[in-house]
Amino acid sequence: MKNKLLLVLSMSFFVGFSAVAQTASDTGPTYTANIQPLFQKYCIACHDSGSDYGNLMDYNEAFGLRKKIAALVDGGRMPKGHSAITDDERDLIVQWANGGAAQ
Ligand code: HEC
Repeated sequence: MKNKLLLVLSMSFFVGFSAVAQTASDTGPTYTANIQPLFQKYCIACHDSGSDYGNLMDYNEAFGLRKKIAALVDGGRMPKGHSAITDDERDLIVQWANGGAAQ
């Protein structure tokens, strides 16, 4: 029972990641296709429209924060308290933020 749950979980991570990797390889990661889904998964709990620390669901706010996003995600300080994010997902966010944060 427990093993089955783990298998389903790891499969959904894998499918989710390959979808991200595939779209990213064409033109580089974009907010809409690659990054907002990750923010939704890992950041929205603290960075929605009511947040004092920036609403990462809004492209313009995320764009304005791109330098900080790169530094904090690369340094492992964000997502705060979240250990589920993978190294590949971190790399993709940092690559996006450092590469001009395309919409
Ligand atoms: C559990 C809550 C929580 C989660 C999840 C979280 N953050 Fe944060 N974030 C904070 C808090 C609180 C601050 C304020 C500074 C501090 O306490 O470190 C902050 C600050 C920031 C800042 C600086 C904002 C500014 O105006 O200086 C950025 C950028 C940021 N977070 C990005 C992210 C990203 C990207 C994610 C997801 C990958 C994320 N955070 C996930 C709580 C969170």
